[in-house]
Amino acid sequence: MKKFIAGNWKMNGSLAANEKLVHELLDRVGRPSCDVAVCVPCPYLSQLQSLLGDQRLIALGAQNVSQHESGAYTGDVSAAMLREFGVRYAIVGHSERRQHQAETDTNVAIKAKRALEAGITPIVCVGETQRERDEGLTDYIVRRQLAAVVHLVGPCISEIVLAYEPVWAIGTGKTATPEQAQQVHAILRKQLQAATEKAHTIRILYGGSMNASNAATLMTQPDIDGGLIGGASLKADDFLAIIGAAK
Ligand code: 13P
Repeated sequence: MKKFIAGNWKMNGSLAANEKLVHELLDRVGRPSCDVAVCVPCPYLSQLQSLLGDQRLIALGAQNVSQHESGAYTGDVSAAMLREFGVRYAIVGHSERRQHQAETDTNVAIKAKRALEAGITPIVCVGETQRERDEGLTDYIVRRQLAAVVHLVGPCISEIVLAYEPVWAIGTGKTATPEQAQQVHAILRKQLQAATEKAHTIRILYGGSMNASNAATLMTQPDIDGGLIGGASLKADDFLAIIGAAK
């Protein structure tokens, strides 16, 4: 399966910084052997659509999508709106949104469904906190988070990208070991196998302090099909090195 490296810029960037970063990426990315996307803040979608142009090496993604189709939802951005800006991927259920915006498993599942309906691939994030891991709840938490999406989207589950992002590894420099990550990815793969015959085609990304030095080893694991990269996706050298490691 072709690996997938997606950058999650989070709430970072400026018109000037984005332009510099995207030019560097496009100039130096060559012919990557993996799929690549950058998930940017909504106000920059138009800028990114124009910077990325017609090339097919780097795709455009968003970091969230409304669970509603249209109407009186101040501040929300619909899947159809994202689509108008050439958005191909939308992160849903990132732990930062589950935590700070109180998104529930059900909200996340509806968002995934809305994205799919608009022809956008949702990157569904699951992951446990440190406390949940310490209490031995990792499997239960990630399975519960994925189950909500499987339940709502049915056979379309084969169209998603899944990302395992242990909350304790995000932005902390504390990466899961390849074995720890693989163990959870295998559980998720098994759950997908129970839901669809196409489970082997669903990419399961790892996210959480993935960087140029640990990316290659993480991606040698059988069920790690790429990465969802936060901090390191904001620096061209680092992001390009991770793309290079995804063979
Ligand atoms: P970091 O790579 O900065 O740890 O962030 C990971 C992440 O949250 C990607 O969605």
